[in-house]
Amino acid sequence: MTSKDPHSMRILLVIRSYHHNNTAKVADAMAKALRASIKVPEQVLPGELEQYDLVGFGSGIYDGMHHRALLDLADKLPKVKGSKAFLFSTSAMVNGDKVAKDHLALRGRLRSKGYEIVGEFACKGLNTNSFLKYVGGLNKGRPNAEDLAHAEEFARGLAPGVL
Ligand SMILES: Cc1cc2nc3c(=O)[nH]c(=O)nc-3n(C[C@H](O)[C@H](O)[C@H](O)COP(=O)(O)O)c2cc1C
Repeated sequence: MTSKDPHSMRILLVIRSYHHNNTAKVADAMAKALRASIKVPEQVLPGELEQYDLVGFGSGIYDGMHHRALLDLADKLPKVKGSKAFLFSTSAMVNGDKVAKDHLALRGRLRSKGYEIVGEFACKGLNTNSFLKYVGGLNKGRPNAEDLAHAEEFARGLAPGVL
């Protein structure tokens, strides 16, 4: 995706994962594949993202969108030119159409700041929100080993040759 020497690429993942650490597990798998750093939105100075060749933004999906902290961060970012980003999420239900909608709010904010969105990834995550806690939750054990392998594979495709 870039002509830069992949071994010198600077990659950051900005994540918020509070429900069951589901998205944090996905982020760890991606970070390993990309040799990326991980920060939470509160650790990010809006101007600092331009130092990175690629920034991934990920969280659970809450009420149909990424976590508010990521949307607020995107609102604060300065306009950029030629910067690349990718999106990821975990949620109760994952299918093409729903994921595209779940990612819409963050995607739109980042695009309006000039980011090129170079990929999007989603997988299921354990959900014990609301009445689900009484039945032990939905998507037990997710993300599982297969989900994390898919996350790694997706990440490698974004920056071939980093490992
Ligand atoms: C308050 C709340 C709202 C949620 N809303 C949605 C939703 O709109 N759509 C969905 O598919 N999953 C929804 N979920 C499920 C989470 O997206 C899912 O459990 C996710 O993996 C949590 O990620 P985390 O552990 O990284 O925070 C919701 C969970 C919570 C706690």
